[in-house]
Amino acid sequence: MSTYPPINYSDYLKVDELTDLQSLRSEAFGHPAHDEMLFIVIHQTYELWFKQILFELNSAITAFSAPTVDERDMLTINSRLDRIIEIQKILISQVDVLETMTPMDFLEFRDYLYPASGFQSAQFRLIENKLGLEQRLTYNKKDYKEALSANDHKKVSQTEGEASLFVLLEKWLERTPFLSIGKFDFWKDYRQAVEERLKNNLENIEAAGYDEETKKKHLQNFEQITKSFDALLDEAVYKKLQGEGSWRFSHKALSAALFIYLYRHEPIFQLPFNLMQNLQTIDENFTQWRYRHALMVHRMIGIKMGTGGSSGHQYLKAAGDKHKIFQDLNNLATFFIPKSSLPELPESIKSKLGFHY
Ligand code: HEM
Repeated sequence: MSTYPPINYSDYLKVDELTDLQSLRSEAFGHPAHDEMLFIVIHQTYELWFKQILFELNSAITAFSAPTVDERDMLTINSRLDRIIEIQKILISQVDVLETMTPMDFLEFRDYLYPASGFQSAQFRLIENKLGLEQRLTYNKKDYKEALSANDHKKVSQTEGEASLFVLLEKWLERTPFLSIGKFDFWKDYRQAVEERLKNNLENIEAAGYDEETKKKHLQNFEQITKSFDALLDEAVYKKLQGEGSWRFSHKALSAALFIYLYRHEPIFQLPFNLMQNLQTIDENFTQWRYRHALMVHRMIGIKMGTGGSSGHQYLKAAGDKHKIFQDLNNLATFFIPKSSLPELPESIKSKLGFHY
């Protein structure tokens, strides 16, 4: 075995360089503000975690980009996503540390920051694009990339043209076999099971003793669900709803996702099920971070505009509502039925969903 030259902890981690990277603007302008150190360290820490998230995302995307995803890679992809989920928990809880800075402490150095803003975090935009965020809110009628430096603009633009995890998941779902094999018509049986369940729900609504107003709302909701369920079974209707923005996945991909969710207990679907659950969790965690950040911003600057020029708290709250990627997977839960009511799969198909020796 070869030997390697010894290395010291500080040299390996470049600790001196790292701890030399905090330059307080308040100090440079002759009015040192104690809390600016925390403000910089927190942001830099976020950027380091963003770097790690991108590293994991890129690795998952590479494995998932294969024309046929090797089943052996699924475990790796899932463990990369698991790691992102753990990092997100830190990102959310880290806001607590920043909130030990009071709004008035922040005012001691806020004026030195214009027009800089987290809105210009290129790594945050890369993460969004690699996950598959497309429809964004705008403010001042400008594209989000206009706030970026020329170099960041180039990097972020490039990811807009690349296949995101959303797109790769969609393609992969479209390739899922088993949806209509031979004489087995899953969708007919499933429709029957769901209709029975919806009828049951309707009876429960009638019997629950709601006041007229609540009952009316329940019935409207019931009608809406029945209508979107029809769309699920009819590609032409589905496409219309897709055009209106109700669904993002292709009809084929969504059907495959539903099939996997319903029969997730079948051995061959367990890892695909975990993968989609992980993507839902990542999406949800970013929404949690957005809301947490928006609440902190409200507390920190009230209803003032942001240094980046947005309406501040209001923009951030709206972005939390809108900037979601895997919503279709959440919406699928509308059509779930208990395992005990699921159509029994024919043996010829069931035997293909297990592991064989
Ligand atoms: C005192 C603390 C903070 C305040 C007052 C604040 C305020 C704001 C405001 C008002 C915006 C909207 C854009 C603008 O008008 O500037 C924004 C966006 C953003 N901030 Fe912060 N922020 C703070 C801390 C942080 C931290 C620690 C991070 C971590 C990286 C961060 C990341 C972001 C990101 C990524 C956006 C863009 C969000 C989007 O467009 O969806 N912010 N921030």
